[in-house]
Amino acid sequence: MNIINQVMADMDPLAALLSDYEKAHVGYVYSLGFSEALVLTNDAWKERVAGIPHNSFLIAASFDPNKMSEIHDFDKEVVLLRVLGPTSLPQDADLLKTRIEHNQRRTHDELFVDDVRDGIDPITHSELQYGGIKCRVLGTFYTDNGSLRLGSDLENYMCSTRLRVFKPYGDVLATIVNHVNPEVLAKSLEESKKSGFTQLPTPIQIGTVRYTSTDRLHRGIKEKLVPVLIQPSDFLSRRTAVLGMTRTGKSNTIKTTVAAVSMAALKDRIKVGQIIFDINGEYANANHQDDGSSIADVFGADCIRYRAIDTPGFEDLRTNFYQDVDQGLNLIQALFRKDTSPYSGQDLDNFMSSTLEEPDPTAHSDHNRWAVRKAIFQCILYKAGYTPPVGFKVAVPNSKKLVDQLNKFAIAQQPPISITVPPSNSASLSEACTWFATIRNINLKIKAAQKNTNQTQIGIESSTKDNPWVDATIESYLNFLIRENSGGLPFGGYRAVVNYSPYHSPRRSADVIEEILTHLYGGKIVILDLSAGPVSVRTVLSKRIAEHIFNRSFNIMNEGQIPPSVVIYVEEAHNIIGKKDDLTDTWPRLAKEGAKARIAFVYATQEPSSIHPNILANTENWFVTHLNNDDELRALGKFYDFADFHASLKTAQDVGFARIKTLSSPYVIPTQINRFTPEDIKKALHSYSSVK
Ligand SMILES: Nc1ncnc2c1ncn2[C@@H]1O[C@H](COP(=O)(O)OP(=O)(O)O)[C@@H](O)[C@H]1O
Ligand SMILES: [Mg+2]
Repeated sequence: MNIINQVMADMDPLAALLSDYEKAHVGYVYSLGFSEALVLTNDAWKERVAGIPHNSFLIAASFDPNKMSEIHDFDKEVVLLRVLGPTSLPQDADLLKTRIEHNQRRTHDELFVDDVRDGIDPITHSELQYGGIKCRVLGTFYTDNGSLRLGSDLENYMCSTRLRVFKPYGDVLATIVNHVNPEVLAKSLEESKKSGFTQLPTPIQIGTVRYTSTDRLHRGIKEKLVPVLIQPSDFLSRRTAVLGMTRTGKSNTIKTTVAAVSMAALKDRIKVGQIIFDINGEYANANHQDDGSSIADVFGADCIRYRAIDTPGFEDLRTNFYQDVDQGLNLIQALFRKDTSPYSGQDLDNFMSSTLEEPDPTAHSDHNRWAVRKAIFQCILYKAGYTPPVGFKVAVPNSKKLVDQLNKFAIAQQPPISITVPPSNSASLSEACTWFATIRNINLKIKAAQKNTNQTQIGIESSTKDNPWVDATIESYLNFLIRENSGGLPFGGYRAVVNYSPYHSPRRSADVIEEILTHLYGGKIVILDLSAGPVSVRTVLSKRIAEHIFNRSFNIMNEGQIPPSVVIYVEEAHNIIGKKDDLTDTWPRLAKEGAKARIAFVYATQEPSSIHPNILANTENWFVTHLNNDDELRALGKFYDFADFHASLKTAQDVGFARIKTLSSPYVIPTQINRFTPEDIKKALHSYSSVK
């Protein structure tokens, strides 16, 4: 979008800020310091500019924009001010007296008089109209190598200041609120190129300037709404906080952002993966508040939804433990550690500290042992009631040496034991369970016999001579399956893992985390609908996914490559990056360090004071809507110039009325966020894809 119209673009950028100065004039600076300016204004001038709202921007300059070549060097600047409130003039006491006396003299039938001066003589009336405004100095615009630059303070002030004050509106206001210094733009370009953009990505329009809750005048029908833009480079690889009470538009802000990021990426033909941890299911599901469609509806095939229960249209968030034995065991172990389980014992400890990570297949012996553990683990799952995938077969061990030893032992018994060897190494789960019971039983018996004859207790021998086939871990796995320790004492065994079956889904054929990461790094929008399914499943799974994203991006980076841009959105963030959370834990680490590996973190909460102070302090972008109490406002007031908005944030409850501070803007911009309108986004998407 071209913010500055052509006429302005051709002008000296400083003169352009005063392009409509006669109409915009609202007063004179009569006192100036480095941080504050006092402005003399007048009701008539206020009327000319549709009023001067609280927190509105004013600009002050002492030059005539039509005589740029003649101006003194000292005057070549425009001071940016923010209206804080009224201030008294020396003559206020007299004026106040006049106003009071005038009203005291009024008779009742004069309540309304047909006179704009309210019955006051013209000279007095003109004096009464004057008043003072106190403003904060936000910075100074000046030209540097011909382009406009904003310094975030005032370098010098003259005691005999000749600054005239103007209220910016239209294109001038758009220039001010969207100003980014040339050096910041150059840096953004450099950053963007690293993310794969060929040029500076198109800024995202997030809303329009809004100063106050009552916006009858400054956003009235005659006033042009002024767009507020966000630089995508401010947003990617950064932290963004979306703060405000419930139902003040946080989720809407996130939706607008997701859509805007997606479109910027599409337009510039690069991949930016976005993942939403959707606690309330409002991004994944059509919502009548948002014109009947959700992010998922708008982005179609570019958006993949996950849930921890079976739902048409959703992928399953859960892992198939039979398939992904390593993930499954890991999850079981994590859950067990958090649980207060009534089960204990050496075999249980061994099981809970074992791993099913696949060793290098060329390390034959390790790989064979892993394959045996994997098969026993699948039998344990079966016994513990984890529904197997349809037609599931177990790869059971049946090497000739193993079978020969078992047979030799069985035949030698009185009477001989009969054993059923699975026909191939592909057995049904119940066949596999029986087979492992046989192996365990005979192994224990061989060991007992070896003990009786004072031999080394090897039990069944592995392919290597004098090496036990049943090693310590396999022994514990077998005991766990049979629910009996090697001394013959019964124990809980697989019962210890029965409760975790809701985390498993027989539906999946591929590793869910791997699949999510593939979508994400492929530039898709992934929505994890956490509104359904068991609560513990959701928390555990989301943390695991976050952990994997973190690890994957850092691994790519540590290999010397540039990880793809990823944006993570979380709601109710105080639950995961709270004040007391350990900064070495997954979520806080992701929030704190993720940016280094190009992971942007966007978090929403109604309790900024509960967020870990370190994360808050490292947040680059802020979107703040209504906060209803001083504690929260104080937490926020410590940052940037948010303290100026304390009163307005506390009283204005308007939905989507946000105060925005972004990385490349040195001050807060009060903004009405755009409503997420699926229809408009669909249209825009259509136009981009037809360009492709
Ligand atoms: N900027 C906005 N303009 C118009 N309506 C909005 C805006 N932001 C939110 N809304 C509407 O207000 C309601 C609450 O917004 P939501 O974003 O869900 O709030 P929160 O996430 O803070 O609880 C929704 O119905 C939403 O459509
Ligand atoms: Mg919400």
